[in-house]
Amino acid sequence: MATRFPALARLKKGRETWKQIKWTWLPESNREAGDSVVRNFLLHWFPAKVTRQSLSWNYSFWLGTISAVLFFILIVTGIPLMFLYVPSVERAYLSVKDLEFKVSFGWFLRGLHRVSAHLMVAAVFLHMVRVFLAGAYKNGTAANQNRQLNWIIGVALLLFTLLLSFTGYLLPCDQLAYWAITVGTNIASSAPLVGEKMRFFLLGGHTIDQNTLIRFYVLHCFFLPMGVLLLFSYHMWRVRKDGGLACVDQLSLEQKKEGAQPIKSKTYSLLGITSGRTVHVETSIIDEDKHTVASSPNLTRRLLVATLATLAVAALLTILFHAPLEEAANPSVTPNPAKAPWYFLWLQELVTDTTFTIAGITINGAFIGGILLPGVLVLAAIVWPYLDKSSVRAVGVWMATERRKQNIVFLIVVAAILILTIVGTYLRGPYWNFYWPWQSWPTIPRHF
Ligand code: HEM
Repeated sequence: MATRFPALARLKKGRETWKQIKWTWLPESNREAGDSVVRNFLLHWFPAKVTRQSLSWNYSFWLGTISAVLFFILIVTGIPLMFLYVPSVERAYLSVKDLEFKVSFGWFLRGLHRVSAHLMVAAVFLHMVRVFLAGAYKNGTAANQNRQLNWIIGVALLLFTLLLSFTGYLLPCDQLAYWAITVGTNIASSAPLVGEKMRFFLLGGHTIDQNTLIRFYVLHCFFLPMGVLLLFSYHMWRVRKDGGLACVDQLSLEQKKEGAQPIKSKTYSLLGITSGRTVHVETSIIDEDKHTVASSPNLTRRLLVATLATLAVAALLTILFHAPLEEAANPSVTPNPAKAPWYFLWLQELVTDTTFTIAGITINGAFIGGILLPGVLVLAAIVWPYLDKSSVRAVGVWMATERRKQNIVFLIVVAAILILTIVGTYLRGPYWNFYWPWQSWPTIPRHF
């Protein structure tokens, strides 16, 4: 047959090869599903089985995954951008202009990179909000869990994400970039004692020039992405070590109430019993048939959907909202108002709101709004998981009654940040005066 119909034989061989490639992704039996995570390098990162609850779309909203996908879009679009962008004050703006108007699909590449950066800031923030409201920084009953540490790694990831976006903001070297970075670094300079030194360190001098550009460029293209990559790898490893998402702990609590015992046939259960109640012991209490499914294809399929949906939304926004490119940076023409990047506008707003004079003494708003309050917020975020004394019944539960007061305080802070961001973005005009969206701004002479 093979010799009489060689084309048919080749087709059959091709089909066999295709089957060999895809079987780990589309296993046809439980045994194949188990085997696939052992044999496939990429699938090896996942546990063999996951609980249905952690796969649910409306528990985690997959915001962590969406943040990770956006980070990978940034890397994939950032690499070709590095070949086209020139980090020199004389040529940076022109190279971005070339990208916009000369390079084929350069506008799309730049736009997708920019949109993904903005979306990543928003997604990481929302992911943090969901983790807090679900009490997912708390440990269950298993030994060696350390979700508090993973939360702190998360806080570092949020700060790195903000810095990554901030350093990228300067690179086009247009007016928007120049003045946003000027405002941003001016806020940093208001810290007592070290403020000026911090600004000098950030800018590599007293003004934004070649030293600043190369500093921001190296941080943006190498050190910060490497930092995010390392922190993210540890973040994911910890999720595995902590027994999966926090909702799994509720499942094992329920099963324990029903009197279930760890499945002793599992060797890791025995190891766990000798070294305390490890997550392996706790999760082996869960009735696998009832509550878990194989990672391949259940988790992988959802990952694919989340990835494609994120990519589609980012691409659509890129097409709908063209990335801005203003005139080339000009230190002698100050825009009025000069605004920081949108995710720092709540700080800029705080700076103005906390600057006032009592009995002839002017209170330095830049210090209170720009350094003190954000510093206190970051510190509070770091220690909060250690101060939260709610019981294990509140682990991984959305808006648990026991944590109601904490959630209200947290939501007030989140709402304040959002309101200040909206005011700073849409309702502030020349001289930082307040204008409703329907009010037109007065014509201000340009400042030279
Ligand atoms: C670059 C930024 C980040 C990425 C890519 C990322 C990614 C992820 C992913 C993929 C998960 C698994 C489940 C999920 O999708 O929710 C996760 C879980 C988690 N993340 Fe993040 N994350 C980031 C930032 C943060 C931040 C800012 C925080 C909090 C301050 C945080 C705290 C946590 C915690 C505590 C878990 C475990 C949640 C649970 O057990 O239910 N992460 N993260």
